[in-house]
Amino acid sequence: MDDLLEHAAHSAAEDISPEGAELRGSSFDYLTQPGADLAAKAQAFHAWAQTRVSRGVFPYAKRLGGRPGATAELTLLDGQRHAGLNFSSQEYLSLARHPLVCAAAQAAMERYGVHSAGSTALAGNVEETVALEAELGELLRMPEVLLFPTGWAAGFGAIKGLVRETDHIIIDQLAHNCLHEGARAATPNIHLHRHLDVDHAERLLKRVRQRDPHNGILIVTEGCFSMDADAPDLARLQALARTHGALLLVDVAHDLGSLGAGGGGQLELQGLLGQVDLVMGSFSKTFASNGGFVATHDRAIKEYLRFYAAPNTFSNALSPVQVAIVRACLKLVRSDEGAHRRDRLMQAILALRGALTERGITVLGHPSPIVPVMLGPDALARIACREMAQAGLLANLVEYPAVSLNSARLRMQVMADHTPALARTAAGIVADSLARARALMAG
Ligand SMILES: Cc1ncc(COP(=O)(O)O)c(C=O)c1O
Repeated sequence: MDDLLEHAAHSAAEDISPEGAELRGSSFDYLTQPGADLAAKAQAFHAWAQTRVSRGVFPYAKRLGGRPGATAELTLLDGQRHAGLNFSSQEYLSLARHPLVCAAAQAAMERYGVHSAGSTALAGNVEETVALEAELGELLRMPEVLLFPTGWAAGFGAIKGLVRETDHIIIDQLAHNCLHEGARAATPNIHLHRHLDVDHAERLLKRVRQRDPHNGILIVTEGCFSMDADAPDLARLQALARTHGALLLVDVAHDLGSLGAGGGGQLELQGLLGQVDLVMGSFSKTFASNGGFVATHDRAIKEYLRFYAAPNTFSNALSPVQVAIVRACLKLVRSDEGAHRRDRLMQAILALRGALTERGITVLGHPSPIVPVMLGPDALARIACREMAQAGLLANLVEYPAVSLNSARLRMQVMADHTPALARTAAGIVADSLARARALMAG
C-alpha cells in the first residue's frame, strides 16, 4: 500500500496548540451570531475554518481525484493531496463504474440527451422515470413511488408536503437533518422522542392524540441512523401509528439496497416490506446517483406530493441519465450479483468492526455500511483525523453539532470493493493515529 501513500507536510506536533482556535469551538458558534451585518456572520465562520485549514485539522470539503473506489485520492482545502484507503465515499455496492450502469447511462444520454428540462409536475419525466418508479415499488412492495431530485428533497418534501401547521410530528431526536428541517418548516407542533425509545414515542403519541383528536400525526424515524448505525423497532412504531390514527414515515437512505438478503434493507430484515405507511430514501449511497423517492400505498398521496412537495414541484426532475443509472443499479441490487456484493460488503463490515473492537476502540450500532468509530473529544478527534489522512486512511470526521459535544466520531463508510484484509489495515491505522493524537495532546 506504500505506493498509495503520499505523506503531507502537516505532520509536526509543534504547529498544533491545545489552546489554539483550531482545536476549540464548533460551527455551532457561528450559527446564531447577533448583528446587522449578514456578511460578517459568514466572515467569522470563514476565519475560524481557515485557521483549522492552515493547521490541517479541517477535513471537510475534500475533492476526489478519481472514482470513489476502495482506494482513492482526495485533496484537502489547503491543497494537500492524500491517497489511501477510502472509507469516505457513499458507494456501498461499488456500482459507480459497473459496466452495465455505465452502459445504461450512455444509452440514456444518446436517447434523451442529458437534461430533464422540467419538474415532475410539468414535463420533466421520461418513460424511464415511470419504469423506475414501478421497479422500486416492486422491491419495496409499495405500489406508488414518486421520485425526487435528491434524498434530502424527498425527506423534507414528504413532511412539508403532507403536514400542516395544526398537525403534529413525533420524531426521533437523531433523525436526519432533512427530516427535522421538514418538520420545522411544516408545523410548530414537534415532539422529539429519545433516540430509538419507542416507549417514549408511545407516551408522546398517546398524550398528543388525547389532547388533539382533530389533527394529523406523523411519526418519523430512520431504518439505519446515519451517525449511530442503529435501528428502531419499526413494527412497534407502525402498530402504534395504526392504533392512534397516525402515519409512520421511515427514511431508508442507508439500508435500502445494501442490507437484507434481497436488498430490502431494514424493512426486509424486520419482515416489514410493504407494511409501512410511508417510506423515503436516497439513491446517493447504494444506487450511484443523486436522487430520492417517497413510496406509499396510496395513489392520492403520491399525486398530492407531486404538487404539494415544493422541492419536487418547483425543482427539475432527475435527469434521464440519473434515472437510467438508478434503474441499472436497482436491477443489480435485485440480482444474484447484488446479493453477492452485499455478502462482500458485510464481510468487510464485520472485519472492520471486529478489528477495531479488538484494539479497544468503541464501534457504535449494528453491522451496516456505516461504521461509526467513537473518537471522543472534538480536539482529539481533529488531530486523530489529520494523522489518519497522513497515514493513508480517508474517512469522514463527524463532530459537534452533528453529534453531541465531545462524542466526535469517524464515520467509516464501507463498500463491496473493500476486502476484509483492507478493512483490518484501516483499523490498524485508526488505532495508531488515535494513539499518536493522544500523545500530541498530552504534549
Ligand atoms: C438518513 C439520510 N436521509 C437522507 C439523506 C439525503 O440524501 P441525499 O444525499 O440523496 O440528498 C441522507 C444523506 O446524507 C441521509 O443520511
